[in-house]
Amino acid sequence: MAFCLLFTLGNVGHQAEAARAFFVFGDSLVDNGNNNYLATTARADAYPYGIDHPTHRATGRFSNGLNIPDLISEQIGSEPTLPYLSPELTGQRLLVGANFASAGIGILNDTGVQFVNIIRIYQQLEYFRQYQERVSALIGPQQTQLLVNQALVLMTLGGNDFVNNYYLVPFSARSRQFALPDYVVYIISEYRKILMRLHELGARRVLVTGTGPLGCVPAELAQHSRAGECAVELQRAAALFNPQLVQMLNQVNNQLGSTVFVAVNAIEMHMDWIGNPQAFGFVTSKVACCGQGPYNGIGLCTVASNLCPNRDIYAFWDPFHPSERANRLIVQHIMTGSTKYMHPMNLSTIMELDSSV
Ligand SMILES: *[C@@H]1O[C@H](CO)[C@@H](O)[C@H](O)[C@H]1NC(C)=O
Ligand SMILES: *[C@@H]1O[C@H](CO)[C@@H](O)[C@H](O)[C@H]1NC(C)=O
Repeated sequence: MAFCLLFTLGNVGHQAEAARAFFVFGDSLVDNGNNNYLATTARADAYPYGIDHPTHRATGRFSNGLNIPDLISEQIGSEPTLPYLSPELTGQRLLVGANFASAGIGILNDTGVQFVNIIRIYQQLEYFRQYQERVSALIGPQQTQLLVNQALVLMTLGGNDFVNNYYLVPFSARSRQFALPDYVVYIISEYRKILMRLHELGARRVLVTGTGPLGCVPAELAQHSRAGECAVELQRAAALFNPQLVQMLNQVNNQLGSTVFVAVNAIEMHMDWIGNPQAFGFVTSKVACCGQGPYNGIGLCTVASNLCPNRDIYAFWDPFHPSERANRLIVQHIMTGSTKYMHPMNLSTIMELDSSV
C-alpha cells in the first residue's frame, strides 16, 4: 500500500515536470486570438498586428509579435496556448492548456459593453469548466483534476474597468454611482469573487497582474497630456487599485492556507522604463510605434497608421499595448524579479517549489 502511494506520487512529480498545463484568463493584454471568432470591433486581426510574429501574420494578439502568455509558455517550455475558440484546440493539444482571454473585458460585466460580443470573465470561467469536461473525456476525471491542480494560471484584469468603463466617457454611469476610491473597493470585492470561483474550478497557482501605468500609455497622453506627463486621474486609479489588489490576494491566500495567488507588480515593471527608456534600449516610452496623432495615441493601429521601422526600440506597440520587446522585459521580471516585482515570489521560485512536490 505504502509502495503504491509512493509510486503514484513519483508519477505526479514527473508529469508536472514533463508538461505543465497553462491557462490564461483576462483582457487584450493576454488574448491570443479568441476575439477573431467573435463579432466585435475589439480585435487585432489585420496588418500591421503580428508583423514580427513568427508567422508574420496578425493572429489576434495585441502585439507586433509575441505577447506575455506566449513568453511565459516559452519560459515553462511549452507551446503557446491556443485560443479556446480555435477549432485547432482538440485532442492532445488540449493538454497544453488553453487561452480564454478576450480583448475588451473587465472585472465588471458592464465593462467593454461597447464591444458587444466579447467573452466576459464569468463566461471565460464557464468555458474553463467546459474545457475540463472535454479533457475528462480524453484522460479521465482524476487525471484532469491533476492537470488543472498542477497547472500554471495567468489572470490579467482591471485596466478596462477604468479605461473602458469608469473613464470611458465623462459622467459615465459608474462614475456617477461611485467616487473613485469607492469604485476601487467595489471592483476589488468583485475580483475576489472571480478568483474564488477560479480556485473552486481547481486552479492552484495563479499569477495575478496588477494594472500597468494607465495614465502613461500613448492613448492617454494623446488625450490628457500637454508636455508628456502621465494623466493624473488614471494614475490615481492605478495607485489605488494595485495595492488593494495585493492586499486582497494576501487575504485570500491566508483564507485558503496556501499561496495560490501571486501578485505581479506590472506598474513597477513599466515605471522602470517610463522613467528611463534609454536604459532599457527604447528611444521612447511615450510614442506608440503604430498609430496616429500626438504620441501616435489616437484611434487604432491600422494599415493606414504611422508605423515605426524598428519595433524593438519602442516600449509601446500601439496606443495601449506594449511591444514584444517590452513584454519580454515584463516576463523576465515575472521569472526572476525580486519581491519588488513579484509578491510573494517569482515564477522561477514557484517552478522550483512545484517540481519538488
Ligand atoms: C456578472 O455576470 C455573472 C454571470 O452572468 C453573474 O453571476 C454575476 O453575478 C454578475 N456580476 C454582477 C456584479 O452583476
Ligand atoms: C527570484 O528569482 C531569483 C533567480 O532565480 C532568485 O535568486 C530570487 O531569490 C527570487 N526571488 C524571490 C523573491 O523569489
